[in-house]
Amino acid sequence: MRSSEHTLLFAASIALAVGVASSASRADAPPLPSASAAAPPAASGSAAKPAGSEEAPRPKRPERDANTCFTCHLSLPDAKLRKAAEEFSHSVHKDERIGCVACHKGNASDPTVQAHDKTTGFIVRPTHAQVAALCGGCHEDPTFVRRFNARLGVDQRKLFELSRHGKMAAAGDAASPTCTNCHGVHGILAVSSPNAEVNRRRVRDLCAKCHGNVETMKPYGLAATQPVAWSKSVHGKAFHEGSEQAPTCTGCHSPHAGTLPGTASVAALCDRCHQDERELFLKSPHSRAFRKLGLADCVPCHGDHDVTRTSWLAGMTPDSACAKCHSKDDKPKKVAEDIAVLLEDVQKAEHAAAVDLAEAKTAGLLVPDASFAVDRLRTAKIRLITTVHTLDMQQLGDDANAAKMIAQEARDLLTKARRDRQVERRGYFVAIGLASLLLTLLVAKSIQLARRRRRGES
Ligand code: HEC
Ligand code: HEC
Ligand code: HEC
Ligand code: HEC
Ligand code: HEC
Ligand code: HEC
Ligand code: HEC
Ligand code: HEC
Ligand code: HEC
Repeated sequence: MRSSEHTLLFAASIALAVGVASSASRADAPPLPSASAAAPPAASGSAAKPAGSEEAPRPKRPERDANTCFTCHLSLPDAKLRKAAEEFSHSVHKDERIGCVACHKGNASDPTVQAHDKTTGFIVRPTHAQVAALCGGCHEDPTFVRRFNARLGVDQRKLFELSRHGKMAAAGDAASPTCTNCHGVHGILAVSSPNAEVNRRRVRDLCAKCHGNVETMKPYGLAATQPVAWSKSVHGKAFHEGSEQAPTCTGCHSPHAGTLPGTASVAALCDRCHQDERELFLKSPHSRAFRKLGLADCVPCHGDHDVTRTSWLAGMTPDSACAKCHSKDDKPKKVAEDIAVLLEDVQKAEHAAAVDLAEAKTAGLLVPDASFAVDRLRTAKIRLITTVHTLDMQQLGDDANAAKMIAQEARDLLTKARRDRQVERRGYFVAIGLASLLLTLLVAKSIQLARRRRRGES
């Protein structure tokens, strides 16, 4: 027992040492050769490039100095006039093939202020309503966009123009966002950039600029509660804890379609991540009843932005979901109460088993089997919770019994482990007893021998 532990410890420290050594050598390793080749192209104007770096196979560029707007504006003393060019040089649009003229028109090959000549259609400041068409001019052209980024979608303008955001912005409503409200103007960054406001980690704050503002939302009759409600929800909490799966605003609302999911598509929306619940819900009497009443599939019980932990939903307490609709119906009332009892029983059994297991582990018992049983119990509990969506008491009863049997198994395993430990201890004491008896006998014998020897000597 002891010696095997030592062997294990020794093996583990060797493994650790080897691990540390190999990770250290990895840190010392030179960067992959592709890292420098994949570096983004230098901004127009500053044509410096790391020596020896391979040019990625891209189509032939136009003359570097063709975009004289950029070159001149970058050198202007007036910070306000310079800012656009400075931001542009750090943006995803910095490639010289995406020039200033795409939005401002003008003559990009004239190096003087004549470049602004009105006869070229020069636009000083594109208006709020004009923006979508300017951005869309490039972004809906697949052959152009894919020369730069083969994976970029080309549907943003179309979706946006169908959305309420898009319709209101086109009608001249400056409080409704257009492309530049969300992406910025000259300093547009890739969605994957952590500094982009549209980045998944930051998009909640972007939407909240308007949707968390009561004054902005009042004229539209919309509440400004969604950002706070979401942050407190099970989704928001999981998101703030770093979950990559939990939906933020754009996990449920396409930023370009920007419309309400609508009754019919809410289910499809939750379904993206909660398929099992949906499949079972479709088998329940609620599925047809909700559709007839024009209710969304999941929202009447779980809410939309304020989806919380679910342990209070079943049952007939005043704040349960069932009580919202079934205060008078006999059968659903009984089903609701029965479900609540089953859930509570299994939850209690799981809690007790987990506590029992923790105590056994603290006491130094080795209980891998019981540990595995408690894991299986947790899975069985989740299965039961998921089955709630069928409202099928037969199935629920079976699932609850299966869970309770696993709970019993865990209990039995832990009891056995404790008993084994006692037997082991008892054996230990008996062994010590025997050993001391032997020792006493030995000592007695040696004394006797010594006496005999002395007697023989004298
Ligand atoms: C020779 C330098 C130079 C070139 C080339 C140049 N600009 Fe300008 N631009 C200026 C100066 C200086 C001003 C401010 C005075 C004025 O409006 O003429 C200005 C003003 C502007 C403004 C208006 C800013 C405001 O707040 O009113 C815009 C927009 C602009 N330029 C865009 C462009 C575009 C697009 C091009 C290329 C087609 C371009 N510029 C080419 C120097 C230049
Ligand atoms: C994708 C479209 C787009 C591109 C490309 C673009 N601009 Fe603009 N620019 C705009 C819009 C929209 C505005 C108006 C912003 C506003 O009203 O806040 C603007 C405003 C400006 C202004 C006035 C800024 C101010 O604060 O008064 C200047 C100067 C300017 N742009 C210069 C440039 C230069 C130089 C380039 C190229 C390096 C360029 N723009 C590229 C869309 C664009
Ligand atoms: C309400 C805010 C908002 C508006 C308005 C908006 N976008 Fe976006 N856009 C986003 C967000 C958020 C993302 C990131 C999407 C994601 O995480 O999947 C995005 C992504 C993109 C992308 C990256 C590719 C993609 O589709 O995911 C492009 C290109 C883009 N937008 C262009 C546009 C254009 C062009 C317009 C105007 C016609 C526009 N956007 C209007 C918020 C907005
Ligand atoms: C002259 C054409 C052109 C115009 C105008 C233009 N874009 Fe782009 N945009 C591109 C190209 C090309 C890319 C891909 C660049 C790349 O990945 O190297 C791009 C990339 C983007 C991206 C980054 C997508 C990602 O996550 O990789 C966003 C966001 C974006 N554009 C938004 C806009 C918005 C908003 C406007 C209007 C204000 C706009 N663009 C105007 C051509 C244009
Ligand atoms: C610049 C302010 C602004 C920003 C930023 C903004 N919105 Fe909106 N949004 C509005 C306004 C105003 C309305 C109501 C009128 C309209 O639809 O334009 C609205 C309406 C909506 C609606 C309801 C549409 C309907 O059909 O009733 C949804 C959903 C929505 N926004 C989602 C979002 C999401 C998600 C984001 C962030 C990616 C976002 N919005 C960013 C201003 C904004
Ligand atoms: C879990 C999915 C989900 C998430 C995450 C989500 N929404 Fe919603 N949102 C919905 C549903 C469902 C509706 C209501 C649809 C209906 O009733 O037809 C809705 C409705 C809205 C509306 C219309 C007004 C209202 O309250 O009914 C706005 C505005 C809105 N959401 C903005 C946001 C913003 C901003 C965020 C991020 C803070 C966000 N949503 C996150 C699912 C979601
Ligand atoms: C993009 C994926 C995604 C979408 C869309 C989504 N969810 Fe979730 N949901 C999650 C994740 C991830 C969790 C787990 C959070 C955690 O780990 O605690 C979760 C948790 C939940 C929980 C709590 C589960 C528990 O353990 O108590 C409920 C209830 C829930 N979601 C309902 C909904 C509803 C209703 C919708 C549609 C309006 C929806 N979800 C849309 C990903 C999603
Ligand atoms: C009739 C009310 C009702 C409807 C409708 C409903 N649910 Fe539930 N949901 C519940 C109850 C009750 C629970 C379990 C409560 C508990 O844990 O004590 C639950 C639990 C959940 C859980 C947590 C499961 C887990 O593993 O912890 C998720 C996720 C969920 N529901 C998603 C959905 C989705 C998605 C829909 C739409 C297809 C939906 N629900 C429709 C009442 C409902
Ligand atoms: C949004 C309202 C709503 C909520 C919330 C709701 N139900 Fe229902 N439920 C209905 C409707 C409507 C019917 C169909 C009634 C009918 O057919 O007479 C129904 C039917 C049922 C039935 C079938 C009754 C039968 O006669 O076969 C049961 C069982 C049931 N609900 C249980 C529950 C439970 C348990 C909950 C909570 C977890 C719940 N309901 C939450 C609206 C609701």
